[in-house]
Order: sequence, then structure tokens, then C-alpha cells
Amino acid sequence: MLLEIKNLTSFYGDAQILFDINLNVEEGTVVGLFGRNGAGKSTTFRSIMGFSSPQCQGEIKYKGQDITTLPPYKIAKMGIGWVPEDRRIFPNLTIKENLLLGEKSESRSSDSPDRKKITLDDVYRYFPVLKKMERKWGCEMSGGEQQMLTIGRTLMSNPDLILLDEPTEGLAPLIADQVMNMVLEIKKEYGMALIVVEQFSPHFISFMDHCYVMDIGEIIYDGSPEKLEKDHELQQKLLGVG
Ligand SMILES: Nc1ncnc2c1ncn2[C@@H]1O[C@H](COP(=O)(O)OP(=O)(O)O)[C@@H](O)[C@H]1O
Ligand SMILES: [Mg+2]
Repeated sequence: MLLEIKNLTSFYGDAQILFDINLNVEEGTVVGLFGRNGAGKSTTFRSIMGFSSPQCQGEIKYKGQDITTLPPYKIAKMGIGWVPEDRRIFPNLTIKENLLLGEKSESRSSDSPDRKKITLDDVYRYFPVLKKMERKWGCEMSGGEQQMLTIGRTLMSNPDLILLDEPTEGLAPLIADQVMNMVLEIKKEYGMALIVVEQFSPHFISFMDHCYVMDIGEIIYDGSPEKLEKDHELQQKLLGVG
């Protein structure tokens, strides 16, 4: 198992946000973490990345090693890449410079040296618009372009596991599908594992190898995409219809 989370509880101050989360990611798989706004998806990512807020209890193991109390820079170095929901680009660097910064923080661990690496050309292949704009400044980009740049920069660090927080948010449906197809290709071509956080959408279920659904800080579904696809009751609850 690449990532194993056992009985994770997380707090912001006195407020408990996560309740006994159990979540596993196998090597080279795409795991969907769905849930309504405020369910605790981003808090789960922040807990994995080791930020001092939220405060966590429980156990998080990565490649068999306990990372629960490690700081973010160490966790990143061990090969976990994080694409936060608020795009974090460097506005005073060009797009190409932003991407090359990702390469500098190369995190792909030495235990998988035979794996193919993602290069600048690969990122440009996934997001042709970044190639077209490579000399432009970060601050000249639209929201959607900044989103692609943030993803591209994380890819350039060649992590073994990528935490993608709402990668399609604010993107046109066609581009959103391109991003999801890129996720599948990254898995296939480079053997990376991904956790993709999205607000619940039946459309994205089919892209996943395994699905979790969170609600009010708890995991309320843990199973195959096929079974989730058939669970109309749960879907209606999450979509607030019916
Ligand atoms: N920094 C924070 N301080 C206090 N409460 C927070 C903070 N960030 C998020 N929360 C609360 O934690 C809950 C889960 O938020 P979040 O993990 O961002 O949900 P999601 O990503 O699923 O939309 C929400 O009720 C939110 O208001
Ligand atoms: Mg969120």
C-alpha cells in the first residue's frame, strides 16, 4: 500500500473537522475523494501534507513509513505532490520559470529510478496553452490557466503520489475532461498514484479506480466506482435532489 490513513481525526482549534478517517491508496491507482462543499476534503489533504493546522491524531503511513508528525517539506521530499485548491503561482515569474521551479523541487524517490519522468515537453503536451504562453508572466494568466500551471508545476517535481484538490474547478467542461484524461495518462505512462478531490459529480466516478465519499468529516462510502454509480440514494443525497 502506498498511502494508509488510519483513524485520522483533525481539529482546527477546538473544532473537530475529521472523524476517524480511514483511507488507502494503492500504488499507481487513481482514487476519487468526493463530497459536498465543507465535507473536509481539503482538510484531509492538509492533514496528509503535515501542516501544523489542522492538528491531527491517528496514523498516516506513506510507503510503510509513519509520516503523521513530519513537516510539509519532508513529506514533499518523500514524493507526495500537492496541488492546493487556491492556485499558487509566482506572478512575477514567467510561465516557463514557474514550471522549471517544479523541476528543482524534484521529489521522485530513488527507489523508483526506472520510471519514466515527466519533462517540460510532457507538461506542454498536456497543456498546449502553457507552451503558447511560456514567456508570459504568471500575473497575466486567467484562473483556468493558473490552475493548469499549478498542476504542471507539481508534475514537474515527479512525485509518486499527487493530491489534486478540485483540479477541474472553474474550468470549462471540455477542459475539465482534458484534465481528467491527463490524470489517467499520468497513471498509465508514469505509474503515479493520484487522489483526486472533487465535489460530488456522477460524471467523474468512471475515471476512478476506487472511490471514497465524505460527508461532514466522515467517510460514508468506500468502494468501487461501479457500486457508487449504482447507489442512486447516496448520489441524490450528495447532489441535494430528490
Ligand atoms: N483554517 C480553518 N479554520 C477553521 N475551520 C476551517 C478552516 N478550514 C476549513 N475549516 C472548516 O472545516 C470544514 C471542512 O472544510 P474543508 O476541508 O475545506 O472542506 P472541503 O474541502 O470538503 O470543501 C468546514 O466546515 C470549514 O469551514
Ligand atoms: Mg476544499
